[in-house]
Amino acid sequence: MAILSSFNFIFPLLLLFLSTQSSPTSISITDNFTRCLNNHTNPSFPISEQLYTPDNSSYPSVLQAYIRNLRFNETTTHKPILIITATHASHIQAAIVCARKHGLLMKTRSGGHDYEGLSYTSYTNQPFVIVDMFNLRSIHISMEHETAWVQSGATLGELYYQIAEKSNTHAFPSGVCPTIGVGGHFSGGGYGNMIRKYGLSIDNIVDAELIDANGKLLNRKSMGEDLFWAITGGGGVSFGVVLSYKIKLVRVPPVVTVFNIKRVENLSYIAHRWLQVADKLDDKIFLRMTFRVVNNGEKTIQAGFPSLYLGNSTNLVTLLKKDFPELGLEKSECIEMSWIESVLFYAGSFPIGTPITALLNRKPQSLNPFKIKSDYVKTLISQKDFELIFEKMKELENQQLYFNPYGGRMSEISEFSKPFPHRSGNIAKVQYLVNWEELGVEAEIRYLNFTRVMYDYMTPFVSKNPREAFLNYRDLDIGVNSHGKNACAEGMVYGHKYFRKSNYNRLTMVKSRVDPENFFRNEQSIPPCSSNDESLFVAHSVI
Ligand SMILES: Cc1cc2nc3c(=O)[nH]c(=O)nc-3n(C[C@H](O)[C@H](O)[C@H](O)COP(=O)(O)OP(=O)(O)OC[C@H]3O[C@@H](n4cnc5c(N)ncnc54)[C@H](O)[C@@H]3O)c2cc1C
Ligand SMILES: *[C@@H]1O[C@H](CO)[C@@H](O)[C@H](O)[C@H]1NC(C)=O
Ligand SMILES: *[C@@H]1O[C@H](CO)[C@@H](O)[C@H](O)[C@H]1NC(C)=O
Ligand SMILES: *[C@@H]1O[C@H](CO)[C@@H](O)[C@H](O)[C@H]1NC(C)=O
Ligand SMILES: *[C@@H]1O[C@H](CO)[C@@H](O)[C@H](O)[C@H]1NC(C)=O
Ligand SMILES: *[C@@H]1O[C@H](CO)[C@@H](O)[C@H](O)[C@H]1NC(C)=O
Ligand SMILES: *[C@@H]1O[C@H](CO)[C@@H](O)[C@H](O)[C@H]1NC(C)=O
Ligand SMILES: *[C@@H]1O[C@H](CO)[C@@H](O)[C@H](O)[C@H]1NC(C)=O
Repeated sequence: MAILSSFNFIFPLLLLFLSTQSSPTSISITDNFTRCLNNHTNPSFPISEQLYTPDNSSYPSVLQAYIRNLRFNETTTHKPILIITATHASHIQAAIVCARKHGLLMKTRSGGHDYEGLSYTSYTNQPFVIVDMFNLRSIHISMEHETAWVQSGATLGELYYQIAEKSNTHAFPSGVCPTIGVGGHFSGGGYGNMIRKYGLSIDNIVDAELIDANGKLLNRKSMGEDLFWAITGGGGVSFGVVLSYKIKLVRVPPVVTVFNIKRVENLSYIAHRWLQVADKLDDKIFLRMTFRVVNNGEKTIQAGFPSLYLGNSTNLVTLLKKDFPELGLEKSECIEMSWIESVLFYAGSFPIGTPITALLNRKPQSLNPFKIKSDYVKTLISQKDFELIFEKMKELENQQLYFNPYGGRMSEISEFSKPFPHRSGNIAKVQYLVNWEELGVEAEIRYLNFTRVMYDYMTPFVSKNPREAFLNYRDLDIGVNSHGKNACAEGMVYGHKYFRKSNYNRLTMVKSRVDPENFFRNEQSIPPCSSNDESLFVAHSVI
């Protein structure tokens, strides 16, 4: 653990060192690679107009267009030697074949929301290229079959908007931020406010198109069930480039109810009660609980309860008065609207009445540097312990905690059904969020420390052995892989937290079959290991 956290503290310095090395060889690698790309693409779909090298005046804007965490928009951030803005599957196929041939690392970026920037930066010294998916964003909906094919470069907002254009009683269960990309989000799980009724995005995916390490385009049938399983929750990054997913739409009523009430009184009691009820409420209710510190001379905690109910407000108030009277929800605090309007409401920063075309905006309303961590709560937290947690939050700066309820559909799905293992037995997922305004390394170090202090403080209240974490909330503090001779052992450190042991082992076996050379990799990818790999056993006895 000590080694891992010091790795993170020295990371900004490491990048500074790397970026000041101007390497003449990388230029000729770029030339060779570009020539290879041109040679490996069909002249009817030329690739040459999709290539951006650092000396191209558009390179900074292309790179920055999908940077969603300003921690990784620094001059010291390690940058690609080439960006390929693919417009055709053959561009991705050529990129894979040529990157392998020239020993280049390849990153795939869909929406760019990776919390640690892994889709567009690298923490290692190696030159890398980005395959940028934003041009590949078509969405084809079949209302007859209640399905849709969605390309990876589409955003959730575009998907939601297009579903709503066809029907006001259909939807899809995935994340609440409309600018998220389908490629990273679906491959990593996909969590949103219909989770208790319909599960995760991956629980509603029926097919996929994937380009593998040999540049072959596969679908569910030709890739086989193991690989399909792996790319629905195990992260696409370890297995190939996902071109598209086929999803099953879900049904919603024409009228849903939302509220986002704030509470400041009796919070430790309400929070304790929330943990007793939130995962047991009617599965059409998603009642999130958030805490932040407000400073009006004196620091106090403010709770928020942004919520969605798949039904009308009369029903909702009746249900909550019965099951959670301590919240004191009044009908006047509820707003009825269509599901698509609720998407905008839940996204947070849009005033009521904003036209739903706002969902098509690919640029978030604001950006800043941030750090996120996650935990799972499996046992109740007492009122007294919540008081201590609130005191700790007040000691630190900008720390916010979000409690997301589980239960409902999530408890009915087996932990082995998908690589995502956090199913029954979990009351809630905790998200630690720290945002800041100041740019640069000094502020970064200070705020990263605050969130790690908070995370340490929470140890007694959350899952143990392993302390579980959510893959879509990528956090390099929980382990990184140098992909050297200890890759399998290093992979277990974060792999067991994201997937638990059995799913992690299955992922490594799929990996060793489909990408034994470990071409598709990043700081937290699945290394290829066979079931009798010695390092698995060595590492296990150490941990
Ligand atoms: C503001 C914000 C809000 C969020 N809200 C939620 C939420 O409500 N629920 C939730 O579950 N998560 C949420 N997330 C996390 C989000 O789901 C993940 O960061 C997700 O991986 C983002 O996908 P992306 O395509 O935008 O990201 P990218 O950064 O493009 O990709 C993420 C990872 O997937 C890989 N990848 C991307 N595309 C492909 C592809 N086509 N094939 C193979 N690998 C690929 C990348 O290399 C990278 O490792 C949020 C993130 C942000 C920044
Ligand atoms: C580029 O290709 C040329 C000709 O094949 C070769 O001599 C050279 O070493 C290559 N450069 C790099 C950096 O691989
Ligand atoms: C690309 O094709 C040209 C001519 O068609 C050939 O000279 C060159 O060697 C090829 N390069 C690569 C990297 O395949
Ligand atoms: C930058 O790259 C794009 C895409 O390849 C190309 O169209 C453009 O002409 C290049 N601009 C410059 C100044 O080289
Ligand atoms: C990212 O950094 C560049 C260069 O400093 C800057 O011009 C740009 O505005 C930054 N992006 C955002 C969204 O702040
Ligand atoms: C406040 O909390 C106490 C428990 O500590 C509870 O008995 C009481 O009813 C709560 N008051 C309100 C107004 O909810
Ligand atoms: C609310 O929905 C229920 C069905 O879930 C229905 O019986 C009831 O009439 C509705 N009430 C109003 C006021 O629309
Ligand atoms: C981290 O923050 C805590 C709480 O403010 C402080 O006590 C500690 O000294 C900080 N540690 C580092 C390494 O900055």
